[in-house]
Formats: sequence, structure tokens, C-alpha cells
Amino acid sequence: MRGKLITLEGIDGSGKSMIAKKLQENPEISAFDPVFTREPTRDTLTGIAVEKAIQLDTDQLAELFLFTADHAEHLAKTVKPALGDGKSVISDRYSDSCYAYQGITLQNNLKNPLEWIKNLHRDWTIVPDLTFLFDIRPEISVERCWMRGNQSKFEKLEFLRKVRELFLSLAYEDPERFIIIDASRFPESIEKEVTEKVLEFLRRK
Ligand code: TMP
Repeated sequence: MRGKLITLEGIDGSGKSMIAKKLQENPEISAFDPVFTREPTRDTLTGIAVEKAIQLDTDQLAELFLFTADHAEHLAKTVKPALGDGKSVISDRYSDSCYAYQGITLQNNLKNPLEWIKNLHRDWTIVPDLTFLFDIRPEISVERCWMRGNQSKFEKLEFLRKVRELFLSLAYEDPERFIIIDASRFPESIEKEVTEKVLEFLRRK
């Protein structure tokens, strides 16, 4: 039986990576032996290219193809093999990040960037079984990014407002798959809610 694919999504500073770490440390979740992974990938040619592209003033279309190449690499090398082995996969960011972020960066290049990017993925990606959207006001998330230092070009208020809206519209379009998490609460309460929901989903036949 194919494993389950769970993804964590949200704008920069939404706190999802910290929750991903907490899920990884949770013994009840570890008992299911899931594969924890992330996008952009690390230590791969495509992941390194994406990291560089974010640091530099890269053309937005070129950037889309780098993120898409990294998604393809991630899918082929990590996600598909694990799911095929019957293991569940928990990924910190996945294709919805590409739809939401590049759906905004390409607004001035394409007529309908979201549909175009979705079509680009349609025939080969694997749609997640469950997606947590860590929803937070960018005013709060940007402040968190500032406190972390090293602000990237995506961590800007106006940009993240639009990305948040696009993430929310993706979630409203597919309520069966998405669970929207209020990420402005205390981390302990977010961790509790997400852990319970992940466990409930992993236990489901
Ligand atoms: P990270 O902060 O989760 O490491 O992600 C790096 C940045 O890349 C973050 O600002 C979100 C952005 N991103 C995209 O623009 N498109 C994508 O497809 C992915 C996976 C991330």
C-alpha cells in the first residue's frame, strides 16, 4: 500500500519549520517511521541552484524552472521511493509553495501564472493527501524573519501579503486536502493541534 504524503505550507516566518522539527522529535509519530523532508532540497544540484537563485537577482521565469526542477528531483529521489515503499512522507514545503510564491512573482510575466504553473506540474507531480497551511498575518511573520536576521528577497511585507492570499485561495479551493492552522497562536498550542491531526491521519486506514 502507498504511504501518505503530508505537506506543511505557509509564508516565510509562519513557524512551520519549527513544527516540522517537533513532529520529527515526537515518538508517537516516529513509530510510523515517516520520511521527513523539505523543499527546496538540500545538498542536491537543484537545491544548491535554488539557494543561489534566491540570494541573487534571478529572472523570475528562470527561478520558476529552478524550483520546478528541484521539485522534480525531490519527487524522483525522495518522495516517490518512500511512498512506493509504503512509508509516509512529511515535507516542509512542496508544490503549493511554487504555486503560491511563483504565482505572485510571475504576475507581470504571464496572464494567469497560477494556472500555467499548475499545468506545468499536472502530469508528473503527486498531489499531497493532506496539507497544513500555517496561516499568519505577514506583519507578524516579517517581524519574525527580521529577528532571525538575513532577510531574503521574498521576506517582504507586500509580497508576502499576496502570497498569503494565494495560499488561502488554494486552501479554499481544496478543503478536503487543506487544514488551515492559525499560526499566530503560542507554538505549544500549534504543535499540539498539528501533532494530533497528523497522528489521526497516519492511523487512518
Ligand atoms: P525556506 O525558507 O522554506 O527554506 O524556503 C526558501 C524560500 O523559497 C522561501 O521564501 C519560499 C521560497 N519558495 C519558492 O518561492 N518556491 C518554491 O517552490 C519553494 C519550495 C520555496
